[in-house]
Amino acid sequence: MITAFPFGTLPDGTSATRYRLQAAPDAYADILDYGATVQGLVLPDRNGRPVDIVLGYDTLEGYVSGDCYFGATVGRCANRIGNAAFTIDGKTYSLDANDGRNHLHGGLEGFDRRMFRAEIAGDTLRLSLVSPDGDQGYPGRLSLTVEYSFDERRVLTVRFRGETDKDTVVNLTNHSYFDLSGGQAPMEQVLWLRADRFCENDENTLPTGKLLPVQGTPFDFTTEKPLSRDLNAKDPLLLSCNGYDHNFDLGGGGTLQPAARLSSGVTGIAMTLSTDMPGVQLYTGNFVHGTGKGGREYRSHDAVCLEPQFFPNAMAVADFEKPILRAGETYDRTIVYAFHTEA
Ligand code: GAL
Repeated sequence: MITAFPFGTLPDGTSATRYRLQAAPDAYADILDYGATVQGLVLPDRNGRPVDIVLGYDTLEGYVSGDCYFGATVGRCANRIGNAAFTIDGKTYSLDANDGRNHLHGGLEGFDRRMFRAEIAGDTLRLSLVSPDGDQGYPGRLSLTVEYSFDERRVLTVRFRGETDKDTVVNLTNHSYFDLSGGQAPMEQVLWLRADRFCENDENTLPTGKLLPVQGTPFDFTTEKPLSRDLNAKDPLLLSCNGYDHNFDLGGGGTLQPAARLSSGVTGIAMTLSTDMPGVQLYTGNFVHGTGKGGREYRSHDAVCLEPQFFPNAMAVADFEKPILRAGETYDRTIVYAFHTEA
């Protein structure tokens, strides 16, 4: 069942709405039309107490003034594009340089800052947006839908679909910050990642193009371990960005399959993330800040993001799969978050 509640007004007078997707009496997701954002995600802990497992704000103003991308749909191209430019078929397009000289998360007015049009279709919330030709520098008019459903098995599905009238770059993700411990021990969350390799980063968190084996490094999550175990290891790749902020290789995209599992021993809440994207960015909220829900002061390492996506800067690295959407083709990618509570 989906119900709608007012969620404030933008400076230009546009009203925002929060949609509650009730999966079960004790499980729901709150989704905003602003940024097609996951604002809240509530599941029961092992004693049946409700726990909100994502960071975010109580008000629309929080989202308008915030810069952490809490729960947002990020695009047109999630993550970084080196030197804020890319070339398709010999033509170079310049984008906003909003992260030093690089481009981050779709630019100054990325999709996280757009009002989507909402439609309720049974148990699916369909959010649509038209991104005009030249939006933030990207070519082509992109028509996009983000569909959310949260079913009685406690499976939250996010499906992104898009079409363009000119060849362009599209790489969409959801930027939820997960803390399945509900504020008690975020870095004690236990993570498994189906990745044998990860992207080496330069000092600006941009992949160098080199894929490194995880084996024998702090980046090995092929056997589950708490995030805290190696977070403070004296590894230059961790030290340079204050924690994990790296893209992991899922061995090629195209098929929806489990990529990660996250759980908290404190609450018993566990999540399996499946995706058909080739990579997943692991970001331990290294630069999280601001006053969030319930007046809580958020700090570094208060949550973890697992963002399915193409490898960052893929347009510039010969061996990386390209996030190109051709005119006339359909972009169609899915993230599935399956929850359960362990005794
Ligand atoms: C992440 C990115 C980080 C940081 C963050 C937003 O997706 O990997 O480097 O930019 O978003 O604060």
